[in-house]
Amino acid sequence: MELTPVHQHLAQTFQQMKIQEHVILKDYTTFKIGGPARFFCIVKNEDDLIEAFNFSKKNKIKMFVIGGGSNLLIADAGYDGMVIKMDISGKKYIEEGDFVKVTAGAGENWDKLVEETVEKGLYGLENLSNIPGTVGATPVQNIGAYGSEAKDVIESVYVLDIIKDEYKTLTNVECDFDYRDSFFKKNPQRYIIISVTFKLNKKGKLNFNYKDIQEALSAKKIKNPNLKQMREIIIDIRNRKLPNLKTYGTAGSFFKNVIVSSIKAKELLDKYPEMIVHAVNNKKTKIPLAWILDHVCGFRGVKKGNVGTYQNQALVLINYGNANAKEIIDLAQKMVDKVYEETGIEIEPEVEYLE
Ligand code: EPU
Repeated sequence: MELTPVHQHLAQTFQQMKIQEHVILKDYTTFKIGGPARFFCIVKNEDDLIEAFNFSKKNKIKMFVIGGGSNLLIADAGYDGMVIKMDISGKKYIEEGDFVKVTAGAGENWDKLVEETVEKGLYGLENLSNIPGTVGATPVQNIGAYGSEAKDVIESVYVLDIIKDEYKTLTNVECDFDYRDSFFKKNPQRYIIISVTFKLNKKGKLNFNYKDIQEALSAKKIKNPNLKQMREIIIDIRNRKLPNLKTYGTAGSFFKNVIVSSIKAKELLDKYPEMIVHAVNNKKTKIPLAWILDHVCGFRGVKKGNVGTYQNQALVLINYGNANAKEIIDLAQKMVDKVYEETGIEIEPEVEYLE
């Protein structure tokens, strides 16, 4: 019998989720690196999630959730636990005066959501255009680009508390956001994110202060961009500066930018007067690590064997072919050592390592 779309939907809903074993993870990451998961399942709704959770609890196995796998380096030996590929979808818009609250399932594609909100004329996500990954990953990483961060628009995050075995809604403050950091990142075995609610503005203001955006605007002779133009400009910049995920295995910026004391920044500026600095406050200064890796350490566009850094962005590590995690880690360690030797700065990875 041919199933109608409605019956197909019901059949899928009632079909028990399948927990698989020994699933190779590299195809679930944009780095295209990683060994097998002992257990693996694709979670499409809250019932699937509970099933995966109960199975892990009963068998006393640890869990790890992956979204788009775009900020992840998975060990060659894989993960001796349950990997949950988050695929919960759905979007809901609620109007509240000048604001619209949009709630999206953790498995929704991030850039599709950004595109849809821009199409609807809602301000808030435009500077975060063209970032790979899923909605559920945005609060973990507190993704950021061109002067905007997810924390500026996240209203709340709906989670499963895996310690207390209950559902919960966390406020923005409870998420404890910081630069590329959050409660979720600091406590990976506590919550599983189910959906995220963003508060967007019908009458928002665009943020085009960032140097790359200013340059793109003057090249296009645009003085006052509209929302759609902002998104297009950001997509252009990212396409020019960052590698195409279809061509290269990569997880974007491999390290975090560095924040040093203003005294340390002054000392470095005396040595490297061309260095770019951004004052955070009168005690702290942010330095784009890409500049140091490129101009001080000569790491832009290097290639050795299967691994290297991108020719337009020294912060981005690349798997040029069949690289394994060890090769990436070895290159990253060389970069850590060289930066320390040249500047005395200790750098930290931004990409999460799963082992
Ligand atoms: N630069 C160099 N050499 C390079 C690359 C950059 O000298 O090889 C200079 C640039 O000219 C610029 C400065 O370094 O003056 C900063 O570079 P860029 O504007 O590309 O930004 P970034 O600080 O390196 C951060 C995020 C990116 C985000 C961009 C845009 C982190 C770790 N990275 O990079 O996020 O897209 O800003 O706002 O904060 C990611 O997280 O994966 C990511 C790509």
